[in-house]
Amino acid sequence: MAGRIPDQFIDELLAGTDITDVVASRITLKKTGQNYSALCPFHNEKSPSFSLNPNKQFYYCFGCGAGGNAISFVMEHDHLDFVEAIETLAKDAGMEVPREQGVPDRYEQNSELLKRLSECATYFQEQLTQSPHKDKARHYLANDRGLTGQIAKVYGLGFAPPGWDNLLKKLGPRAEQQEQLLQGGMLIEKKEQAGHYYDRFRDRIMFPIRDTRGRVIAFGGRAFGDEKPKYLNSPETPVFHKNLELYGLYEAKQNTPTLDHLIVVEGYMDVIVLAQYGITNAVATLGTSVNSQHFKKLFKLVDKVTLCFDGDKAGRAAAIRGLEATLPVIQNGKQVRFLFLPEGEDPDSLVRKEGADGFLNLLDDSSSLAHVLFEHARSLVTLADEEGEAQFTQNAMALIQSIPVEATLRSLLIKQLSEQSGLSSETLSASAPVARHYDHSQSHSHAPQSPDQPHYDDYGYDQMDDGYAPHDYEDAGYAPYPDEAHSPSPSGKSGFGQKGSFKGKKDQGKWQGKGKGKGKWQNHEREQFTPLSQQPKLGRVAHATLCLLMHPAIAQEVDVPDPLLSGDTPERQAFSRVWRYFVKHPNNNAGHLLYQERNQELLHTIYELLNHPDATTKQKLGNAKQEVLDLVAVQSDALGLNSSIQRLKNSGNDAINNPQTQQELRALMEQLRKKKS
Ligand code: UTP
Ligand code: MN
Repeated sequence: MAGRIPDQFIDELLAGTDITDVVASRITLKKTGQNYSALCPFHNEKSPSFSLNPNKQFYYCFGCGAGGNAISFVMEHDHLDFVEAIETLAKDAGMEVPREQGVPDRYEQNSELLKRLSECATYFQEQLTQSPHKDKARHYLANDRGLTGQIAKVYGLGFAPPGWDNLLKKLGPRAEQQEQLLQGGMLIEKKEQAGHYYDRFRDRIMFPIRDTRGRVIAFGGRAFGDEKPKYLNSPETPVFHKNLELYGLYEAKQNTPTLDHLIVVEGYMDVIVLAQYGITNAVATLGTSVNSQHFKKLFKLVDKVTLCFDGDKAGRAAAIRGLEATLPVIQNGKQVRFLFLPEGEDPDSLVRKEGADGFLNLLDDSSSLAHVLFEHARSLVTLADEEGEAQFTQNAMALIQSIPVEATLRSLLIKQLSEQSGLSSETLSASAPVARHYDHSQSHSHAPQSPDQPHYDDYGYDQMDDGYAPHDYEDAGYAPYPDEAHSPSPSGKSGFGQKGSFKGKKDQGKWQGKGKGKGKWQNHEREQFTPLSQQPKLGRVAHATLCLLMHPAIAQEVDVPDPLLSGDTPERQAFSRVWRYFVKHPNNNAGHLLYQERNQELLHTIYELLNHPDATTKQKLGNAKQEVLDLVAVQSDALGLNSSIQRLKNSGNDAINNPQTQQELRALMEQLRKKKS
């Protein structure tokens, strides 16, 4: 049973870990005075702006604003989630991660299941060298698909030999194991013989699907010839939810030196062949359209996502689903682009023909989100002239409205649309219809599908599993495209593949920078980052906050009047949060605060402070306490706190401990509270 990791353990872990070791084992550090500097591993740079403070146990980068403690460093650098990072650090520190009693996480609960699935993966791999039918499989992989043994190994490819019970016999001799294999989707129960099973995957090339931690959670199996279905995938199981997973993500994380960009393709083979050509950062959805959950997962890892589609109608329809899925979850600093391949090609065939460079050139030529959005809005227009223009504007606004209000992309697109339509941004925002049908914030988009390509998630596995009789042993669930296309795709006539069809001014969106929508990734975050020389002088509250961040111990020694704590500005909120935090956690430092704080806005404020040039001087400050006292006093003054409070404050801690003074102070505070409300 495993549950939450106790906070106390995390504190102990941080106490027992030196961030210097953690960072030095991953990047090259150079000692500069008390600190270390390095080339920042989180953005490309030529001169070092990454700085590590061993005393305070945190790092920050003056170039890109990355910052945090040992845990966040491992998370970002190794592309791990929080728990994984804790486990990594604990392992290095020789500590065992304790878990609080409570709800076990789904993986722990299913550890037996995962063990079975991992055995299955090993079994399938062994069959490539041991099965009497191995030649057929090896020939298919090497000759028909041109895969090297090396890449087959990286992706753990295997072979499910022909026969009804190879896996069952080998891995499920006992009832308990059979239960687990059934639960894991590897066996199917015979319809007329309850408690009797047969192998789901027979006579197929096997693709293990791994989670982000590398554990096998499901399989895809490809038929050798034209048998249907071409790809058979594991059903939904307690450890596999195909709408949440991306094939190849673990491998991409493992094998890409700097993972800052992910390419989403359609198929298993596309991922693998791209990797064989050195393009290791491709992932595939599992027979479903890319959905908002996928984007959330992708955005956690990288800032740039390219969706890759076939250049045909089906591909364009899929691109619209991708567009609709990304809009509700797009964030500042994230970019999504669309790559439409030439008709009849998939990444697998293309990279073989054109090589890695050819594929990368195409990537450079991908369409921006803005372009695809406006193209789509245009394609839905049915009327001519002014009415058509009105339709276009409404369609575009309907899409734009599903973008979160705080995303810069939203206002940029409105601005662009305003230039297009001649309507002011205000008019556009006010007149936009409520965009019901574009609200695809749920995990799966139900946009109409193109009739020429099924979406394999429509097979409805749940029914399939028991829908077929045991003696016909039909591959459960082959039903050619049931429930297909509810209506013809409205986007069928859109012309994304044709360059420049957006009124001849493809992507003149400002958000892409220099008017060219094609091409190079722009880095918003870096663009928005104010050069140090131009950073504004810190205000008093910010000053005090920075002092606290650099010298947390003074929080214990300095009392702060309530009004200053009831932060009504972001600055004061930050001050208040920082002070309260260090009062509550006297042994913690800014690094702890950074990883425990969940409020993004606050985190941003704190990072900005830590990145401010004053941070260096504040750190050296000898009389930090006095400085904070002064700042608090001046601030209280500015807030109209009367002089008696200041007198009390300035008299220091001892006076506060005196009951009479405390009472006087409480009365004053009360008075002030009333005055405020
Ligand atoms: P494609 O039909 O485009 O296949 O399906 P592909 O990737 O080009 O495969 P190869 O090159 O012929 O081997 C794309 C993806 O759709 C899912 C799989 O995830 C596949 O990789 N799919 C396809 C299924 O789930 N079931 C199917 O029957 C077919
Ligand atoms: Mn293919």
